[in-house]
Amino acid sequence: MKLVFIGSGYVGLVSGIMLAYLGHEVVCIDSDEKKIQALKNHKLPIYEPGLEKYFRSTLSNEYLTFASHYNALKFSPDAVFITVGTPSLPNGDADLQYVINATMEAVQNTSVDTAIVIKSTVPPGTAKMLEEMIREKGYVHKVISNPEFLREGSAIQDFMNPDRIVVGTESPESKDLMEKIYQHFIQNDYNILFTCQTSSELAKYASNAFLATKIAFINEMANLCEKTGADVDLVAKAMGMDPRIGPAFLKAGPGFGGSCFPKDIMALEYLAKVHDANCYVLSSVISSNQRRAKDIVSKIKLVLGDLNDKMIAVLGLTFKAGTDDIRASPAIEIIKLLAMEGAYICAYDPEGMKNASSVINIDMASSYQSAARNSDAIVILTEWPEFTKMDYEILKSEMREKVIFDYRNILDPKIVRNSGFKIYQIGKR
Ligand code: UDX
Repeated sequence: MKLVFIGSGYVGLVSGIMLAYLGHEVVCIDSDEKKIQALKNHKLPIYEPGLEKYFRSTLSNEYLTFASHYNALKFSPDAVFITVGTPSLPNGDADLQYVINATMEAVQNTSVDTAIVIKSTVPPGTAKMLEEMIREKGYVHKVISNPEFLREGSAIQDFMNPDRIVVGTESPESKDLMEKIYQHFIQNDYNILFTCQTSSELAKYASNAFLATKIAFINEMANLCEKTGADVDLVAKAMGMDPRIGPAFLKAGPGFGGSCFPKDIMALEYLAKVHDANCYVLSSVISSNQRRAKDIVSKIKLVLGDLNDKMIAVLGLTFKAGTDDIRASPAIEIIKLLAMEGAYICAYDPEGMKNASSVINIDMASSYQSAARNSDAIVILTEWPEFTKMDYEILKSEMREKVIFDYRNILDPKIVRNSGFKIYQIGKR
């Protein structure tokens, strides 16, 4: 099939590259000339483990090409995938201007048979609204909802082994088209669920909101564990053994971040308010997660006392491991609060320092050892595997005080204590 992707961000690039790898002819269009030029020069603008290999193989067999405008297309596509951002408006609602512009541009530059597939995360009702807008302008293109569920850091694995592919359309032709696009997955018995457009759109928001709820819940249980003497990792393990609960997304930490959870749950809460459909759980999850950074700083202050002039080595800046993405990263929020308390911060992250330096002005080190130099404490905020293999002898000689706050619970406390350090973890005494 001939496919166009509008928006060469995270979702657009990963799904465009992988569909090209599966044999479709894919053109990624982005109005950012610089980005397109870099992609043409074989430079990926995002870090995603394993993506480079697929990128190079699809470029070399010319299944994947890049353009900054439709007029470079040599064909009329079977489908245009809209993968542009839907950032938050100040009231929490999703800003649909990029989706609307990209959709209108697509219908103006393609034939009547081209389907518009919305992969961007959009509020329920958007596909129907776009279809109406298209009709008003005298076009007849169909709009299909096809939300993307892949996670940063494991995007290739998630794309190639999806738990489900959700397609929102009630048109038989659109269903047929999407079956052809996802033929590889149908042949390999992956679940494809066809729904109406609106259910597909809400399924994406509801999934993200539910996962965020699990995290906020376990984080609050962690607070309770610290008070009662229970161990949150053991509590989560016991809970997760119940198949009705499941073990995933029960890891306590500094709060959920990233480009999706915080934004999507706020958009869903806004939607609930607009429709006068009370979703009290969503509001609680949002405030619980927003409090998290403050809670973490209070925990640090409880041990270190006044933070004024304390030297703190922060290990981890990205919102999770396996990515260079620092959007809505709890680490950034916590660093800001620590700095406001007068602490001096030196940070290290294997992938996120370049992005972080555009939003915070702190010292960054080239290794965890040099970040720790002369520090009063280490605070681990991202679960990079590198931090589980730290050399405690080196740290002992570098640090002023031997204190480690492991707020991702990735270290073995016995080993750390036997190495002469005090260790504080989430949800443990
Ligand atoms: C999420 C969804 O998982 C994915 O389906 C959707 O397409 C996009 O949003 P992503 O943002 O890449 O993916 O990250 P995810 O792995 O879900 O983690 C989100 C946040 O929750 C991170 O900050 C992570 O550290 C945190 N988290 C996750 C926890 O604190 N505990 C957990 O148990 C799991």
